[in-house]
Amino acid sequence: MDLFEYQARDLFEAHNIPVLAGAVATTADEAEQAAASMGGKVVVKAQVKVGGRGKAGGVKLAEDAADAKVKASAILGMDIKGHTVHKVMIAQAAPIAEEYYMAILLDRANRNFLVMASVAGGMEIEEVAHTSPEKLARVGIDPNVGISNEQALEIVKAGQFPADIAQSVADVLLKLWSAFVAEDATLMEINPLVKTVDGRIIALDGKVTLDDNAEFRHPSHEALVDHAAANPLEAAAKEKNLNYVKLDGEVGIIGNGAGLVMSTLDVVAYAGEKYGVKPANFLDIGGGASAEVMANGLSIILGDPDVRSVFVNVFGGITACDAVANGIVQALEILGDKATKPIVVRLDGNNVLEGRRILNEAAHPLVQQLDTMDGAAAKAAELAAK
Ligand SMILES: Nc1ncnc2c1ncn2[C@@H]1O[C@H](COP(=O)(O)OP(=O)(O)O)[C@@H](O)[C@H]1O
Ligand SMILES: [Mg+2]
Repeated sequence: MDLFEYQARDLFEAHNIPVLAGAVATTADEAEQAAASMGGKVVVKAQVKVGGRGKAGGVKLAEDAADAKVKASAILGMDIKGHTVHKVMIAQAAPIAEEYYMAILLDRANRNFLVMASVAGGMEIEEVAHTSPEKLARVGIDPNVGISNEQALEIVKAGQFPADIAQSVADVLLKLWSAFVAEDATLMEINPLVKTVDGRIIALDGKVTLDDNAEFRHPSHEALVDHAAANPLEAAAKEKNLNYVKLDGEVGIIGNGAGLVMSTLDVVAYAGEKYGVKPANFLDIGGGASAEVMANGLSIILGDPDVRSVFVNVFGGITACDAVANGIVQALEILGDKATKPIVVRLDGNNVLEGRRILNEAAHPLVQQLDTMDGAAAKAAELAAK
């Protein structure tokens, strides 16, 4: 889950990372009130989960509360890279002397965490990496060891920070690391980390991604979810504990095992080229797919108005094909006349003959069986194109 900047700010504050006062507002009047209670100059910042807001005109300095109202009404409703601005953050304005960069992220390729720090911040880090790579420190962190103060100072030095602020920047890095660990993040980025004219080091913009796989450890993270932006089908699937991702095609997909579902998407995408149709979703119902899980999966997919046919692709393993076939039959009974779209089933693997027999015997009018994955994909694509 990606956080809004104001949520990242609050999280940073909770972990003692230096930030400025900030308040979120959804109307120009609220923005004015927030600015008035803060006093002085403020910055009005579009809250959208995309970078480069500054360049897009989504970050504006306001002289006072009245000006904040004007700036907020200009920014609210704005479109930034396809994201509509529904909220702004009113932040105290910082007297900036320098802008730096600091981030910690999960480095999947190296099965490690990576710290990046640079004296050249404010701009996009890809640009720094490209134009002045010597200014960007990139240091792997062993999760079992963490970061010592000594190592933090080495990283800060490698990022070419001046010596007089080295310890303050290292302190921020150590706090960022403990926040990263405590919150189970996969990314925490501060850009810019600034030095003010009076020498303070402050995080002015934060980007945070929390690891959804760890959400069971963090009941407090539920409050950070942006329910308004969630896809309703994905939200319903999540409630049923299904591994579902909405895509933009017409062929609904159900399979058991993430690998099989991924290759099913490929095969359907290929078969669908001829008809101009694509997979409508990813849905992995996992190993022990009971009738209830099958019914939940089918009902999510059949509830997707874009879906015109469904492909159920199951390879029987520990859960044998007969159990899956019974699951499909019972699922269709549970769904009754909510099941309205043609369903192509391909069963293979453990006890396949019995599974196919069960489906044949049930002879549900919406269900047809094909023996091969390619054949079934082609049939599902053809039905979706009708
Ligand atoms: N509170 C603030 N006070 C002063 N300047 C700010 C403040 N917040 C942001 N800025 C300036 O605006 C620029 C862009 O803002 P930032 O929050 O980094 O948005 P983005 O990364 O989406 O462009 C910053 O690099 C900084 O120069
Ligand atoms: Mg930024």
